[in-house]
Amino acid sequence: MTLLRKAIVLTSPLRRKVVSHVKAIVHDEYGDADRLQLRDVPDPVPGKGEVVLDVHASGLERGAWHLMTGRPLVGRVAFGVRRPRWPLGIEVAGVVTAVGEGVTRFAVGDAVLGSGVATYAERARAKVKNLVPKPEALSFVEAAALPVSAVTALQAVRDKGRVAQGDRVLVIGASGGVGTYVVQVARAFGAEVAGVCRTEKVAGVRALGADPVLDYTRDDLSGLEGRFDVVVDIGGLRPLAQLRRLLTPRGTLVLAGGEGGGRWLGGMERQLQALLWSPFVGQRLTSLVSTTKTDDLATVADLAARGDIRPVLDATYPLDAFPDAMRRLVDGDVLGKVVIAVREG
Ligand SMILES: NC(=O)c1ccc[n+]([C@@H]2O[C@H](COP(=O)([O-])OP(=O)(O)OC[C@H]3O[C@@H](n4cnc5c(N)ncnc54)[C@H](OP(=O)(O)O)[C@@H]3O)[C@@H](O)[C@H]2O)c1
Repeated sequence: MTLLRKAIVLTSPLRRKVVSHVKAIVHDEYGDADRLQLRDVPDPVPGKGEVVLDVHASGLERGAWHLMTGRPLVGRVAFGVRRPRWPLGIEVAGVVTAVGEGVTRFAVGDAVLGSGVATYAERARAKVKNLVPKPEALSFVEAAALPVSAVTALQAVRDKGRVAQGDRVLVIGASGGVGTYVVQVARAFGAEVAGVCRTEKVAGVRALGADPVLDYTRDDLSGLEGRFDVVVDIGGLRPLAQLRRLLTPRGTLVLAGGEGGGRWLGGMERQLQALLWSPFVGQRLTSLVSTTKTDDLATVADLAARGDIRPVLDATYPLDAFPDAMRRLVDGDVLGKVVIAVREG
């Protein structure tokens, strides 16, 4: 082939496939926030049962840190053994720009919230079953602070804790993304709620209706032993025996999270212990792995729209400052949620 013909073939409009791009936070290897990059990636295309959204806002939650660092190491079985295979970002609020095959629940222009894929980006894909309409009463930033954290709180309080009117509930890690919702959901269910957090956040947790609020850097929890119908543990990795002493003889323990355990299991061995002990003791010892459910997303959106729960917004960051947002979370400075505000509104 002559050079001229080759040039004509290569530049022919039929040969050239125009791929548009959007900006997204990308991580090619495990590590800290310094390794994250804002890069151009191909514009997402909706698959069957999916939509594509213009991302207006995306919530930051601990799961993103686990995916970024590949810790605990057992998680890499799913995330990718040597290199990350999963992109960052789940919590999303935005506007539908394209619908995939078989989608009838949403149309272009609908404002939605829920769980998406690679949502720290200008545009992202999401399965329709993981989305609900965004209530008008909520801004996109507020809506993006709900999907994982508030649904986890709902499932901890209602499904695992079976919290009822008048129950006494202790929330350990009451100041975090999940914990600020656990306090509020438990109160909405009619419980008396006590909280545990660090000094700087005591007033913020008290403002959510928790009383008393203990400071784990100063206060000893042993003064509260035997008092709680339900203990929801989200922070601190206290031993099971210590948590059980806080419960009434027929009380329920909900293990929902905790950071800083060993590099292999990250503290998950407590969940195994709870499973093994629970049949032999009077208390219910449960663990939570939250899952996105359309009905639960709708419930938290409704609770927030009615004002029964409110996202505690610590700060918003633009997309290009995502690494700073992650550092703030890792440093333990966040009360409630940090949200990445990708577009205005
Ligand atoms: N089970 C599930 O399906 C599920 C779903 C989502 C998240 N999680 C897990 O839940 C945990 C919390 O997530 P998050 O998004 O709420 O994180 P987060 O916003 O970083 O909150 C962490 C919480 O842990 C508290 N904490 C830290 N050290 C503590 C200690 N020694 N004693 C008592 N509390 C302590 C923090 O209190 P201060 O900030 O006041 O220090 C804060 O309230 C993480 O481990 C996450 O992986 C689990």
